[in-house]
Amino acid sequence: MTAPAASHDGAAIQGGHAAAARARLVLWIETSCDDTSVAVLEDGTRLRAHLIAAQDLHRLYGGVVPELAARAHLELLPRMVAAALDEAGVAADRLTAIAVTHAPGLVGSLVVGVAFARAFGLALGIPVVGVNHIEGHLLATLLEHGEPPWPAVSLVVSGGHTELVEIRGVGAYRWLGSTRDDAAGEAYDKVAKLLGLGFPGGPPIDRLAATGDPAAFDFPRPMLDQPGFEFSFSGLKTAVAMTLARAGGGPPFAERFTADVAASFQRAVVDTLAAKSLRAIEATGARALLLGGGVACNGELRRRLTDDCARQGVALRIPAPRFCADNAAMIALVGARRLARGAAEEAELDAVASLEASGLSISAR
Ligand code: KG4
Ligand code: ZN
Repeated sequence: MTAPAASHDGAAIQGGHAAAARARLVLWIETSCDDTSVAVLEDGTRLRAHLIAAQDLHRLYGGVVPELAARAHLELLPRMVAAALDEAGVAADRLTAIAVTHAPGLVGSLVVGVAFARAFGLALGIPVVGVNHIEGHLLATLLEHGEPPWPAVSLVVSGGHTELVEIRGVGAYRWLGSTRDDAAGEAYDKVAKLLGLGFPGGPPIDRLAATGDPAAFDFPRPMLDQPGFEFSFSGLKTAVAMTLARAGGGPPFAERFTADVAASFQRAVVDTLAAKSLRAIEATGARALLLGGGVACNGELRRRLTDDCARQGVALRIPAPRFCADNAAMIALVGARRLARGAAEEAELDAVASLEASGLSISAR
């Protein structure tokens, strides 16, 4: 087999039948945090199986416990791979490649997926490619909606990330801004914990906010008064904590009060995310806004961006909830495109915890 011209995302130019053949029937593995997910994708578009196991055990601790997540992946992954192949009606020896999330995420969790993929690939004699988890979130909407009009701005808002990225086409990324401290989803989770609403915090706050008064508390809109595209959510969380301290400290709080805090907090988050996204659209001349990550499930954020984008004449693409949260299908999509373009199997595929060290953002900035 000939060596590709380059092996980085979007840069490889090999083409031809060999590359297409490798993308024919691919097993995809995602274990970067606390969701174990496996998919079988045919010819880069046809999802023949897609399983997601959310690890419920972390609820007991009010957050993800890395060691427990890694152990759960280890137990779940072999069984889920067998179940996915079964559901797809595909024997393992018919697979043409394996793709696995190798960065960024919890290193113990990533290692489980990467080690499994490498061993399975070796046993089957097929290539194994690494996919960047954030690139999966950036492009998740392409699964259902196909390519948007380029250029686009993508807003990825999850438990671990808040990223605003300009996309000129698949593989051509320019980082506009990230969070300086807590991610948007992390802020939801921390505020929900303060309110005694359990983990993960996004869904209960989203639900309660619909019944509360968003103007009841004047929480800060972090960094909106500053130029650029950076975010910061820890000050907002502190402002909520101070309000709760004045109201007597810990939960349970009165139902009305809880709903008002949830609604006011959510309004501050949505105002900030929407304003920075619009600013990014204006600055880049983007024709579409793509959402990704678990917070993209949020009802108020969806409604606000739907209105804002309609007003600006910009296409808005939001994945279905199961493709917003961590899932192997989005990894499959990115990996299939890399394989079809001739991306090489990485000789030393390794788990990489940080986005900065993962190559994606640094090479694209
Ligand atoms: O993408 P994801 O499943 O995992 C990570 O990569 O982090 O995102 C999980 C995050 C959690 O912080 C959760 O509270 C948040 O997404 N989330 C929401 C909603 N549903 C999930 N945040 C706001 N509103 C929601 N409806
Ligand atoms: Zn994620």
